[in-house]
Amino acid sequence: MPTPTFLYGTAWKEDETERLVRLAIEAGFRGIDTANQRRHYFEAGVGAAIRNSGVSRDELFLQTKFTYIDSQDHRLPYDPNADVSTQVRQSFASSLEHLQVDTIDSYVLHGPSRRRGLGQEDLDVWRAMEELHDSQRVRFLGVSNVALDQLELLCDHARVQPQFVQNRCYARTAWDRDVRRFCRARGILYQGFSLLTANLAELRTAAFREIVLRAGRTPAQIVFRFAQQVGMLPLTGTTNPEHMREDLAAQDFDLSPADLQRMENLGVN
Ligand SMILES: NC(=O)c1ccc[n+]([C@@H]2O[C@H](COP(=O)([O-])OP(=O)(O)OC[C@H]3O[C@@H](n4cnc5c(N)ncnc54)[C@H](OP(=O)(O)O)[C@@H]3O)[C@@H](O)[C@H]2O)c1
Repeated sequence: MPTPTFLYGTAWKEDETERLVRLAIEAGFRGIDTANQRRHYFEAGVGAAIRNSGVSRDELFLQTKFTYIDSQDHRLPYDPNADVSTQVRQSFASSLEHLQVDTIDSYVLHGPSRRRGLGQEDLDVWRAMEELHDSQRVRFLGVSNVALDQLELLCDHARVQPQFVQNRCYARTAWDRDVRRFCRARGILYQGFSLLTANLAELRTAAFREIVLRAGRTPAQIVFRFAQQVGMLPLTGTTNPEHMREDLAAQDFDLSPADLQRMENLGVN
């Protein structure tokens, strides 16, 4: 399964997870993002949706994450007293069980243990993730919520390089331009989330509204198509079947080079 051009995100859906993931697959999504972090995700609900979807495993791109204890609630997918390498192995085994699969396409470190730099535990976690990759139960590794300095350090230390970065993407940082530039140079695919919700002010500007009018598409489609055209893999977690179809249809048109440039600078002028 090649990496899809859109990911369906499964956060914050609780008891609706199975129903919504099934609707997303029915709408045409083939890439699914989740995490073994019960506080925000119901990974077993994703697994139930996959099993009942009628779509075969090899037609799906499944991404899940290892999450440190500080970002979990009491519903831990590992032994809180184990070392982090063991926790990665336990969390991964639990993900396979939840998702009812033998392999994961992309296994992501949900976020480094600190805001700047990396700690020894981050390097230990990455080593454990590399071993999962070595065992061929994981096709690609990724890292999320990462600053440029952290990504550079990780790439310096990693034997298996990250294939994905998943970050919240703010127009006011020129859509995470520095991280995206580094990713492009290293052949890492940048996944952007909160593309709509993190940029509400920018999406109200006259400059944006003019682009929407020119393209004759919805505001969400403009943002997602911009993301794809500049090389990002966007995420949407919409709960609305019409929005699911609308988001996937963003691929059916192109923004002009001039409008792409206006989008790049939307939050930085
Ligand atoms: N790595 C991380 O730490 C992290 C953090 C946050 C999120 N994520 C991932 O990213 C996914 C997406 O999260 P998100 O923060 O980008 O927010 P989101 O869950 O996609 O929320 C988007 C919001 O915009 C609204 N919306 C209106 N029109 C829309 C349209 N056409 N298409 C899509 N949404 C539309 C949605 O409402 P409707 O539901 O009514 O459409 C919803 O309220 C998550 O599910 C998760 O998988 C990862």
